[in-house]
Order: sequence, then C-alpha cells, then structure tokens
Amino acid sequence: MAQLPDYLLGVNQRELERLRFQHGVWKHVTDGFLDRIGVKPGWKCLDVGGGPGFVAMDLRERVGDAGEVTVLEPSEFYLAWLTGEAQRRGWKNVHALPGTSESARLPERTYDLIFSRWVIGFVPSPEKFLEPLFAALRPGGVIALQDYVYEGLSLFPNGGPFDRMADAVRAYWRSGGGDPYVGASVPTIFRRHGIELADYTPHCLAGGNTSDVFEWAHRFFTVHIHHMVEKKVLSPDEGEAMLQDWLAHKENPETVFVSPIVMDMAGKRSL
Ligand SMILES: C[S@@+](CC[C@H](N)C(=O)[O-])C[C@H]1O[C@@H](n2cnc3c(N)ncnc32)[C@H](O)[C@@H]1O
Repeated sequence: MAQLPDYLLGVNQRELERLRFQHGVWKHVTDGFLDRIGVKPGWKCLDVGGGPGFVAMDLRERVGDAGEVTVLEPSEFYLAWLTGEAQRRGWKNVHALPGTSESARLPERTYDLIFSRWVIGFVPSPEKFLEPLFAALRPGGVIALQDYVYEGLSLFPNGGPFDRMADAVRAYWRSGGGDPYVGASVPTIFRRHGIELADYTPHCLAGGNTSDVFEWAHRFFTVHIHHMVEKKVLSPDEGEAMLQDWLAHKENPETVFVSPIVMDMAGKRSL
C-alpha cells in the first residue's frame, strides 16, 4: 500500500495543547454545526482524524450512554490520551481505532454520523480519503466536514510583511501534499458519489490583539513560521520579517486579526 506523506503539523504534547486551545476558540462553530445536523442520543459516530478527541468528547455528551463514538486516528499518542480521558470520565462507549481513513477497514453502512475537522485539507487525495467514509455511512447517515477555503486571513493595520502570509500558508499546506482550498472541492466530490449536500456554511472569526482568536493564530504562527522556513516556503529573512510584524501587532491595541474561512460541509447518503 502507498505510504501517506508525514502529517504536516506533527504530533507532540505542545501540538496537543494547541489543539485543545483551538477547540475552545472554535467550539461554538462546531457546536452550531452539530446542532444543525441534529445529533441525537443513541447515534453511532465516527470522528476521523479526531486527534486527542476533543470533538469526540462533545459528541459523546450528545449521544449519551446508548450511543457510541469511535475515533479513527493514526497517532498512538493522541489515542492514548483519548483512552485515558474516556476512562477518567467512566465512558465505555468511546473507542480508539488506530489508522487512517485510506487504510482502515471500516464496517459498511454503519454510522449515523461521520465527522472530520481539519483533516481532509492535509491529505493527498480528498476523494480517496472520503470514499471509505461514504461506504461506512448508514443509508440516511450524515458526513460532516470542517475545513479551510484558505481565503480571508488578514492583519490590520496592514501594509507589512505579514500581508503575504496567506500565500505562505497555502504553499505550506501544498508542501505537505494537502490542499488549502479543499473546502471548495468537497461539493463536487459529494455529487460524484451521490451524496446530497445538506449544509455548506462558511465561518470566519475576528478579534483584536488580546482576543482568543488572535492567541489561536499566535500559537500557530510562532511555531509554524519556523517550519515554513525549514520547508523553504519562506526564506529566513521573509520568515523573520513576518514574525516581527506579527509580534508588533500583538502589542498594538489597534490590531484587528481576521481568520481564514472554515467551511461547514455536511452531506447525506441517500436511503
Ligand atoms: C489538525 S489535527 C485535527 C484534530 C481534530 N480533528 C480536531 O479538530 O481537534 C489533524 C489530525 O488528523 C490526523 N490525520 C492526518 N492524516 C490523516 C488521515 N489520512 N486519516 C485520518 N487522520 C489523519 C492527524 O494525526 C491529526 O490528529
């Protein structure tokens, strides 16, 4: 079987803490999506690339004792964290399944909901990622994705080196084999596979230099500008200039940060 490229953002305790903070900042967006889908007690859910399982825990709250939540995730480190957390909460119906979407042997026609947030943008073939998931949905089941259409990222007052950051991030995603505009190709993939597009809702968060959304971006850029330089997406001078521009905005009360677009995308398997 073809080996997938290494996952771009890496797996370690610092990244786990970044994911936890990120979950807090975007939780109201994901909660709203799950509300619109209408997740119910008793549902059988699969969270693909669920990481340490922050959304899986929220799903477990919704499906209750009668439901089931499985996290399909290649990182043993994240799955160990998930298992520990489920035990701590006394939950016996949260399961860890090691593997990737492309390689896992999932049961067919089984899940009421298959959810995946910030994963499909990293994979070399979104269609190969999605095909096994469509087959694992029960007829009438819902597939729900949240990922970027990487437009909109901006930092004001503008005019400095950070203005080129959206291009740099898009190149960074592509350097790992992913697609920063993946959200724009999902409706076509759904259509090709007979999945009815049921929800397609963009979200963008914005805030000043002391806002949570600024801190979310800070935790990403202060780590990943260095990796963009290592991957030669940025020259060392460009990386340093962008970092200094960002850090100056962090001290400026007039700063406004605007996030890139995160798209909620839900599809329904026909009966
Ligand atoms: C940015 S994290 C998002 C974690 C979680 N979904 C969340 O929203 O907090 C991306 C996760 O996708 C996993 N991943 C990467 N490629 C994958 C694949 N092909 N199939 C399943 N999971 C994958 C990574 O190990 C990582 O845990």
